[in-house]
Amino acid sequence: MNDKNTASILLTPIDVGRVTVPNRFVRSATNDYMAKDDGSITDRQVGLFEELAEGEVGLIITGHAYVQPSGKASPRQIAIHDDRFVPGLARIAEAVHKHPSKIFIQLAHAGRQTKKKDCGSVPVSPSAVYDPSSRSMPREMTPAEVKNLIHDFIAAARRVRWAGFDGVQVHAAHGYLLSSFLSPHTNRRRDEWGGPLENRARVVVEIIRGIKDATGPDFPVIAKLNSTDFLERGLTPGESVEISRILDAEGLDAIEVSGGMTEAGKGSVWQGLRSEDQEGYFVENAAAIKKAVHIPVSGLGGIRTLAVAEKFVSESWVDMISMSRPFIRDPHLVHRFREGEVTSSECISCNKCFNPRGIRCAEVDV
Ligand SMILES: Cc1cc2nc3c(=O)[nH]c(=O)nc-3n(C[C@H](O)[C@H](O)[C@H](O)COP(=O)(O)O)c2cc1C
Ligand code: SF4
Repeated sequence: MNDKNTASILLTPIDVGRVTVPNRFVRSATNDYMAKDDGSITDRQVGLFEELAEGEVGLIITGHAYVQPSGKASPRQIAIHDDRFVPGLARIAEAVHKHPSKIFIQLAHAGRQTKKKDCGSVPVSPSAVYDPSSRSMPREMTPAEVKNLIHDFIAAARRVRWAGFDGVQVHAAHGYLLSSFLSPHTNRRRDEWGGPLENRARVVVEIIRGIKDATGPDFPVIAKLNSTDFLERGLTPGESVEISRILDAEGLDAIEVSGGMTEAGKGSVWQGLRSEDQEGYFVENAAAIKKAVHIPVSGLGGIRTLAVAEKFVSESWVDMISMSRPFIRDPHLVHRFREGEVTSSECISCNKCFNPRGIRCAEVDV
């Protein structure tokens, strides 16, 4: 008989704002490519999220949902730019809430990392800086468009609350639009939205302030933040610490620390991880942020071994453990860990789960 892991620090609750998450496991946002063509929710997605909740994931974060049609990154991505999407989304919240898990929606705009064929218009960016990864030359946003973007993030967060979700995550990582405002590589503006760090962070600050005003103190607002772009002129770990301080002071409720930009040749989803010392590739950056803020910080990047996760939390590198691919491999990983059935994920970080017809682990199905 296996020993149960009921005493693990990973299974203790944590408050994110005024919401209590039952354990330290976060399903990091994962675009599932399962929505309908117009971005509305399918039965398959309701099933996916319910299974993660059955599997006892403490906090589930949906894949990035686009707050404006121009911010759509891929086919079959979740949309949240209109009230008509609320009833479908509400089905997900209802299914998850049959269990103790909490669920947030990740709000996003793809910025320059999309194509006209996917988003229906010339991609937009803080500045017109060519993106070699999507091979698109974006159009610089006007100041009125920046204001409109802030408005639409806030309107989307209101919909998240109407749909019965527990909170929102603002996507400010991976080179998408908000991350590209933070990065000096992609933000070369000379107005109030560009230049010094406070200006580059202004759009995220105004979105967080606006969401807080619109949804009230009971509704947590968290952010996923790049800690480095891996680009010579890009955002540095030191700057990400400063940004985290600013967002903490604005009332942000937690930070999930990631990194990478596709054009750097080093994104956020690393392949070929083979040993425990490769696990948690953004956790050192997360630990630096944790030292600077008063809110929970979640670490991620190839975490697979539960003893490693436990070390990160018990030694206060981070407060929570985010994973994506291990939950594609096995949505019941947390339950099986608690029952003492597993000590690590079987995910081999091959990235074959990126399936435009719906994520699935290629290693399990063969
Ligand atoms: C199929 C897939 C889709 C993803 N979609 C998103 C997304 O919508 N938003 C996001 O912030 N990160 C996304 N990510 C990145 C993950 O959230 C996570 O940061 C990254 O995979 C590293 O964690 P892991 O090693 O546990 O997979 C995605 C990753 C995968 C594998
Ligand atoms: S296909 Fe399966 S094993 Fe490979 S990265 Fe995805 S979840 Fe992990």
